[in-house]
Amino acid sequence: MRRRGLDLNTVKVPIFDTATAAPVPLGYDSEHSGHLVQFYTNDNFLIDSMSRRVEIALGEGGAAIVIVTEDHRAQLARCLESRGISVDSAVHQGRYVALGADETLPKIMRDRRPDADVVRALVANLMAQAASAGVQPARVFVFGEMVALLWMQGNAQAAIEIEHLWNELQNSYGFRLHCAYPLQSFDRTEHAKDLTRICQVHSAVIPSETYSALVTDQERLRNIAELQQKAQALETATGHLQAIIEQRTSALRRLSVRILGLQDAERRRIARELHDSLGQYLTGLKIDMDMLQQAPFNDSLWAQAEELLSRCLTEVRTLSYLLHPPMMDEAGLSSAVRWYLQGFGERSGIKVNFETSDDLDRLPDSIEVGLFRILQEALTNVHRHAAATETEVRILGDAEQVILEIRDNGQGMPQDVLARFAQTGASSGVGLTGIHERVRELGGWFRVTSDDKGTSLLITVPVPANQDEHKIADSSFGN
Ligand SMILES: Nc1ncnc2c1ncn2[C@@H]1O[C@H](COP(=O)(O)OP(=O)(O)OP(=O)(O)O)[C@@H](O)[C@H]1O
Ligand SMILES: [Mg+2]
Repeated sequence: MRRRGLDLNTVKVPIFDTATAAPVPLGYDSEHSGHLVQFYTNDNFLIDSMSRRVEIALGEGGAAIVIVTEDHRAQLARCLESRGISVDSAVHQGRYVALGADETLPKIMRDRRPDADVVRALVANLMAQAASAGVQPARVFVFGEMVALLWMQGNAQAAIEIEHLWNELQNSYGFRLHCAYPLQSFDRTEHAKDLTRICQVHSAVIPSETYSALVTDQERLRNIAELQQKAQALETATGHLQAIIEQRTSALRRLSVRILGLQDAERRRIARELHDSLGQYLTGLKIDMDMLQQAPFNDSLWAQAEELLSRCLTEVRTLSYLLHPPMMDEAGLSSAVRWYLQGFGERSGIKVNFETSDDLDRLPDSIEVGLFRILQEALTNVHRHAAATETEVRILGDAEQVILEIRDNGQGMPQDVLARFAQTGASSGVGLTGIHERVRELGGWFRVTSDDKGTSLLITVPVPANQDEHKIADSSFGN
């Protein structure tokens, strides 16, 4: 059955048909006998553009050899058919050869490098097939994607070696040669050098369709100006980001050094506390016990021992409360906060108002402990820096999130400290940076606002749907 189609020997296809087809990319010339590389972002564009080249080659009585991915092979065939070309009869005449790049590539590679002799033999064979169909090499159009596959597999060196081999073979046979790379695979700054190397081994470069599909010179010039502007903006943004990264990195470095220092100081303080107070009571108790062995019926010694024992218990309780408020485990964040605020108010003389949701559910340990530590840090700052007379603490929550707000009526933060914190999330001290890091670890948001009427810290933390997963022990001290 005769298929609808072009008479492959006689039809002359226009190179540039503004009425029906996408404009022919800049630099393209059907007579171009060099080695072209085309970059593309959209498969359809590539297929459209390759099918037109195949159409031209066949229409001029030549042949086309394509070594393409399986997808592209099928798409190309469909596109050629839609252009009225009978692929079957072109194949039958030996003037259209479509090889799979995925199958051909392993055949020409040895130890991740192309075997030059195998490539030469393959091309010689293909040229011989074209010759037996009556087509001279100069009228053969070759389109290959093995190099693109190698590039995408991360073997840039092998891709360049094959490009050189194609150049050598093209010089000997004189066929028209075309290859294409998806632009998306050059998406990192360090790809720039390889892109230049790839361009250098070709005699002409066709930029991707965002440029080459533009028709007039004015459109192209405008596009170049826009690209230059984008490059400039990217360079500026990269520099800016780099500066922020450096600031944050050095703030975190300072933070970890200070945290280690604080941890040491804390351990020393607890050691001193254990030694000077608990240790003294226990020593006294030991002496009492020794004496009681000699005089077991001495009532005053017994009373003294009892007094020492109860002081030991009070010391242990106080120390353990400071390290981790026990009511947090038993009664939750609100109770622990209420207890802490009472002590803070008495010690600092600052009036404290506390508001919390009546129905605040128990939260995962990580959130309760994290928010409690944040509150301690924030109130320490209020006491040390704010010169405030009043502070307000609010803990509100629902099933999805919990909000902690600490507001004071003090003198506000120095503007430069505030601006630096807003930009980098780092402050001069450990306090705010630590709060920022804690909130980040809990997946929440942290906002500081401050003026001469006071400072407000607003922390919002999402509550995980399955709370059990997030139960972790408080490990902020001494293990
Ligand atoms: N509530 C506040 N009112 C006024 N200024 C504040 C307040 N909180 C913080 N600041 C300012 O922000 C600065 C940074 O606070 P941050 O807690 O990070 O460090 P610090 O308190 O100076 O030192 P550290 O917390 O490491 O002991 C403080 O030095 C202070 O100038
Ligand atoms: Mg502080």
